[in-house]
Amino acid sequence: MTKPTILTGDRTTGPLHLGHYAGSLRNRLLFQNSHEQFLLLADTQALTDNADTPNKVRDNVLEVALDYLAVGIDPEKTTICLQSHLPALAELSMLYLNFVTVARLERNPTIKDEIRARGFGRNIPAGFLCYPAAQAADITAFKATVVPVGEDQAPLIEQTNEIVRRINSAAGEPVLPEAKAVIPRSGRLPGVDGKAKMSKSGGNAIPLSAQPKAISAAVKSMFTDPNHLRIEDPGQVEGNIVFTYLDAFDEDRIEVADLKARYRQGGLGDSTIKRRLEDILQSLIEPIRTRRAELAQDPAYLLDVIRKGTEKARNRTEATRREVIEGLGLFKL
Ligand code: TRP
Repeated sequence: MTKPTILTGDRTTGPLHLGHYAGSLRNRLLFQNSHEQFLLLADTQALTDNADTPNKVRDNVLEVALDYLAVGIDPEKTTICLQSHLPALAELSMLYLNFVTVARLERNPTIKDEIRARGFGRNIPAGFLCYPAAQAADITAFKATVVPVGEDQAPLIEQTNEIVRRINSAAGEPVLPEAKAVIPRSGRLPGVDGKAKMSKSGGNAIPLSAQPKAISAAVKSMFTDPNHLRIEDPGQVEGNIVFTYLDAFDEDRIEVADLKARYRQGGLGDSTIKRRLEDILQSLIEPIRTRRAELAQDPAYLLDVIRKGTEKARNRTEATRREVIEGLGLFKL
């Protein structure tokens, strides 16, 4: 039996952080054994809101690839490929734009949020507004049926499936499969400042390559319950970032449940739960940081991984492009 296919990826705008780890990298590590997995270094998508800083987009290709390998993505199991070197994705994107309306793109909740967050106002880059069609091209070009992503990406998968249905209906046969988003139970990891989203640009992220001191400072800076002034006071667990992080990273669920009960009751200090969280994050990040530093010593190996992966992806995506054109019955020369 052939394994189901996964396509997922990341914009190359900066090194990855704990939010990526909890949101999707962890799932990808599990899936590389059970699925045929492709990871896309999404540099052309990164350009949709970084057109004036192409150097940043370029330089972060290797940073993101390093992060993949450092967390344990195994290039023997997972194919890592570069979006800008897969022309079939661009061609499919143009085709797909005919199967989606501007109004539908503007209504996409992810796009709406991102337009607001970036302060585009009326000056939305056309490529940005249209990137859901390009992301549909990414997913379908690999015939992926599973897409492990953070919850903010769910509307993009929904829109992908709408495009798939329209194309299949225009073709009169199921040329493309629909895809399912796999979103972690824990929900989105907030920033260390408690803001809804961890992001490098928001300055509230813990990078996967963070130094011990930075990890320690980040945990110390976390707000807990502002009304939990003395150790003996009852404290609130909901909305308490330290507990949110323990929920995301502490594997000892029973101990976390116990700590929550004691915190609610009063008698458990913030410093105790912070110390526990810091230990967990230090031991999670330490091997990633070490492995990353080792891999950074061998750029030739890294390039080789990306080149080979992109070559494999090129054949695959080109085959789908041809099937879609033929399925739609365009003129044959
Ligand atoms: N939109 C994703 C992000 O913001 C990156 C991405 C590009 C992607 N193409 C994809 C994710 C296809 C899943 C599937 O990081």
